[in-house]
Amino acid sequence: MVSVVVVFHSGYGHTEQVAEHVHKGLLSVAGVQASLMPVADINWDILAKADAIVFGAPTYMGSVPAQFKQFMDDSSKVWFSMGWLDKLAAGFTNSGALSGDKQVALQQLQTFACQHGMVWLSFPDQPSGLGPNDTNRLGSNTGLMTQSDNDTPEMTPPAGDRRTAEHFGAHIGQRALRWRRGLL
Ligand SMILES: Cc1cc2nc3c(=O)[nH]c(=O)nc-3n(C[C@H](O)[C@H](O)[C@H](O)COP(=O)(O)O)c2cc1C
Repeated sequence: MVSVVVVFHSGYGHTEQVAEHVHKGLLSVAGVQASLMPVADINWDILAKADAIVFGAPTYMGSVPAQFKQFMDDSSKVWFSMGWLDKLAAGFTNSGALSGDKQVALQQLQTFACQHGMVWLSFPDQPSGLGPNDTNRLGSNTGLMTQSDNDTPEMTPPAGDRRTAEHFGAHIGQRALRWRRGLL
């Protein structure tokens, strides 16, 4: 078994929905054990044992929110001993606008993972179209991007984005298994 932890923050529940679909995608891969870990409830021991960590946060003011940044800063204790060296990493962000500067938040997550010496995973998912039922409609390959309207987390992000999150989770799970077997 490989273990993957999804570390996330969600102010209003939309990114949490995305995290749950990433988790579902991870669990769809035989041999993958996955868990969700909100930044308010970080367990450093579990993260130390994980094969891969997926970082997820909404985009607020063109960057990750303060709560997630606090987790990043707190992880400097791990950084001192390179405790996450060679673990796999990937990231996702959700925001209100179609662009909304999501790329900046993803690049923050990528830079953070690289500071820890982690191996950043891309997201090679071909867009199926531009509509709300299409997958990877936002065309992101650095990580997963989803978009939510000004509505409740039960209603938005749309179905296509949720399926994209499942593709993303499955993709991470498959790569974690390959990394474990030395095939990547
Ligand atoms: C403080 C704040 C800043 C935001 N900044 C952005 C932004 O820069 N770009 C954007 O597209 N949406 C922005 N939004 C909208 C959120 O990204 C959007 O509502 C998202 O669904 C929130 O995710 P959450 O429910 O997981 O907190 C912002 C929302 C808040 C509350």
